[in-house]
Amino acid sequence: MSENQPSALITIFGATGDLANRKLFPSIYHLFKKDRLNPKFAVVGTARRELSTEEFHNQVKESILDHVGPEEELDEFISHFYYISLDVANTDEFSKLKSLIDQLDEHYHIGGNRIFYLAMAPQFFETIAESLYKKNLKSAFGFNRLIIEKPFGHDFASAKELNDHIRQAFDEEEIYRIDHYLGKEMVQNIEVIRFANAIFEPLWNNRFISNIQVTSSETLGVEDRGRYYEGSGALRDMVQNHMLQMVALLAMEPPIRLNTHEIRSEKVKVLRALRPITGNEIAKSFIRGQYDAGVSKEKAVIAYREEDHVDPNSNTETFVAGKLMIDNFRWAGVPFYIRTGKRLTEKSTKIVVQFKDIPMNLYLKTEETLNPNLLVIHIQPEEGITLHLNAKKAGQFMDATPIKLNFSNKSTDGMNTPEAYEKLLYDCLRGDATNFAHWDEVALSWTYIDPIAKAWEETKEPSFPNYQSGSMGPKKAIELLDKDGFHWWPVTDLDVENC
Ligand code: BG6
Repeated sequence: MSENQPSALITIFGATGDLANRKLFPSIYHLFKKDRLNPKFAVVGTARRELSTEEFHNQVKESILDHVGPEEELDEFISHFYYISLDVANTDEFSKLKSLIDQLDEHYHIGGNRIFYLAMAPQFFETIAESLYKKNLKSAFGFNRLIIEKPFGHDFASAKELNDHIRQAFDEEEIYRIDHYLGKEMVQNIEVIRFANAIFEPLWNNRFISNIQVTSSETLGVEDRGRYYEGSGALRDMVQNHMLQMVALLAMEPPIRLNTHEIRSEKVKVLRALRPITGNEIAKSFIRGQYDAGVSKEKAVIAYREEDHVDPNSNTETFVAGKLMIDNFRWAGVPFYIRTGKRLTEKSTKIVVQFKDIPMNLYLKTEETLNPNLLVIHIQPEEGITLHLNAKKAGQFMDATPIKLNFSNKSTDGMNTPEAYEKLLYDCLRGDATNFAHWDEVALSWTYIDPIAKAWEETKEPSFPNYQSGSMGPKKAIELLDKDGFHWWPVTDLDVENC
């Protein structure tokens, strides 16, 4: 077996669901097309619904046609897909899954390599992991890997309970906790930008950086996920995982080696150094918002409280802005501001590193000051980096004018970068867990978030809804930076096309 073309039997729990259809089937197909999947592979879909093999094949075909486009080689690819209907709550039913995968393992000469992908509601994670173990679905030769979708718990206590259960069936090295932001090209690029360039790393500290801003804004509302979101809110849905992961990558020390263990342990140190936010500090450092009706992408949209499965008096936040402090030598005194929300002006994820002002401004004019140097990392939808500098304005006088140096991933490569899920699946196939969350990271993130989530649950926010759909969130989020003498860099102005 080639290390870069591993053979495996992939079992997907929740194979009739949205994630399987939108992301997993197209990703497996891309890996197949790129010869990253060994021809000795099989995919077993399971879900409660009764489906014939033919019906399942049609479903996979449709998913690929919808998300990839018309393709020629589909029949050969799809012949590797099998389906079995299963009630995951009933451990006994796992025996029939075992006989199917044992048979396929032999038929395709897979060599016992198994991936179990839990693309299901979190309440089933424990039972599935336990049944896989009890009913001997883990193979004794090859590898066994368990991929788990978020949310991994609802708070530290529930995450620990879930983890303790899963660990009875799978070792930490066998568990791949998905955070799809870690599969994004430009999130992975944070490390390279920092550690492969001599010009940034010496400046990457509290002597030269004044603040860092991470914005992940969405235009969509809660869509059909009201039931889940009511119990989650933006803090648990986005901050505990994606936002804190980006902060950890931005703030970590250079690892001594670029391997899974070293990178994860540097990220863990950042999370350990986060200054806990409790008591009175919560209202000073964290702002919550909930969207009202408004106009998004030129269409009138309803308020969060009017969405399906949402309490008309809901206290759930759809927006969070926060100020994080990292108490270590490198970052003492540098605020990391994060903000994320639904129904905002633009779909955009950006990181802005703002450098300190130069000690003396020789170019001050009556009404203008020099712009600070910014390094903008465009995570999505554009992928690239922009460096904001000052240069001489063409002409007679020595005036300064802002200029921007741009790098855009798409225009350079002339192609779309692979989807996060495709990369993460391939990582898992190769046994590379770097871009998955280790238990220690999950535990520390919950520990940080828990006091804030608890305080918000216990006190109703009287101002909800407090921002209009289509805006950039509540006023208080602006004041959060104002009082420190900073302001949010507007995401639209920073777009590569506006440079
Ligand atoms: C998911 C959240 O983890 O991330 C969603 O559950 C959110 O609520 C999504 O919409 C955002 O992901 P992306 O890749 O579109 O920024």
